[in-house]
Amino acid sequence: MKVVTVVGARPQFIKAATVSRAFAHARGFDERIIHTGQHYDDNMSDVFFRELDIPPPARHLGIGSGSHGAQTGRMLEVIEQVLVEEQPGLVLVYGDTNSTLAGALAATKLHIPVAHVEAGLRSYNRRMPEEINRVLTDHMSDVLFAPTRGAAANLAGEGIDESRTHLSGDVMYDAALFYAEKAESESTILHELGLAPGEYVLATVHRAENTDEFERLDAIFYGLAATSADIPVVLPLHPRTRAALERERLLGEAEEHLMIIPPAGYLDMVTLETNARLIVTDSGGVQKEAFFYGVPCMTLRDETEWVELVELGWNRIVPPTGPEAVRDGIKLALAAGGGRPGQPYGDGHAAERIVRILANGGHR
Ligand code: UD1
Ligand code: UDP
Repeated sequence: MKVVTVVGARPQFIKAATVSRAFAHARGFDERIIHTGQHYDDNMSDVFFRELDIPPPARHLGIGSGSHGAQTGRMLEVIEQVLVEEQPGLVLVYGDTNSTLAGALAATKLHIPVAHVEAGLRSYNRRMPEEINRVLTDHMSDVLFAPTRGAAANLAGEGIDESRTHLSGDVMYDAALFYAEKAESESTILHELGLAPGEYVLATVHRAENTDEFERLDAIFYGLAATSADIPVVLPLHPRTRAALERERLLGEAEEHLMIIPPAGYLDMVTLETNARLIVTDSGGVQKEAFFYGVPCMTLRDETEWVELVELGWNRIVPPTGPEAVRDGIKLALAAGGGRPGQPYGDGHAAERIVRILANGGHR
């Protein structure tokens, strides 16, 4: 069967890496990767194809940045043309970005079946663009791969026929296991930055609610700056956040206190994660990777989709309401350490399971 995989943003390359490898090992699949171009800088895109051995995209649509409507609309128009030409038997989408929604919508309107990996995640916060993208994608999809029991239950609760939902486990866990050794042998980032294992905080920030609201951005960066008096803070800076800090004239101050580096490649990022004393983030993927590597995490949001991590005590939610809230939250998280053991994300073979179910026509 010909499968068109639509990806476009950083976390999707990582998710697709493990499933593409499973497709290559299975018989009877011809996978064609379509890159929308939502992310386009080398360190937001091509580095992942190189480091993770992802097959090069069959088509690169070069859509680039824009407002939600403009970006999604441009994607929709071009993906439709591509699907008409390619005539796949299935379109595969990942996660909750604008590329996910455009891929699923273009396929659905052409009556091409859609499979959604990382289905059923919910924040129940409709102001998040990702929440709209994931709800719509789930309700358009024919085959839904839920990473956790909670995600599968969310789908059932929304009336999605249970025969369409499969509890697959999390493909990001597969990737974390698969690439950990490669990261350890190939990354030299700790040496380059002069960091000692267990003696720094790793932070990432890119969520729209944190970059586009001045009070939250200000709270996060002054809170991190206050933390840096006690322990170094390393921050691979997402381009969206760099632009916001420049706009609000906060970048100079941030650079004085924090170890700001460009977005990291995956192997360097894994190395920074595994050796951190604490991870402070608003990323979905990074919250989980902290847990995979046994590193405590603090999440700079009002809620999380990955509720298991909070239940197990590995993750604390700290809304960035002011610099003190962020600084004090970090102090508490550093003192508290890790949580209880658990395995909510499967057995590290989610990708093979997904491909097996697709080979079986979407049946278990
Ligand atoms: C997108 C996803 C988000 C995901 C994140 C992963 C949506 C709505 N959001 O957010 O769910 O968590 O990717 O990182 O799909 N930019 C560059 N170079 C790039 C890419 C982006 O400079 O290669 C800058 C541009 O100024 C752009 C801004 O970052 O306007 C935001 O990029 P965009 O893809 O729209 O959203 P993200 O914040 O990256
Ligand atoms: N990541 C990376 N380099 C970075 C920041 C993140 O390789 O500088 C990886 C991270 O390890 C994880 C994924 O990107 O696998 C998470 O993507 P991101 O935080 O951009 O998006 P989200 O998961 O929030 O959608």
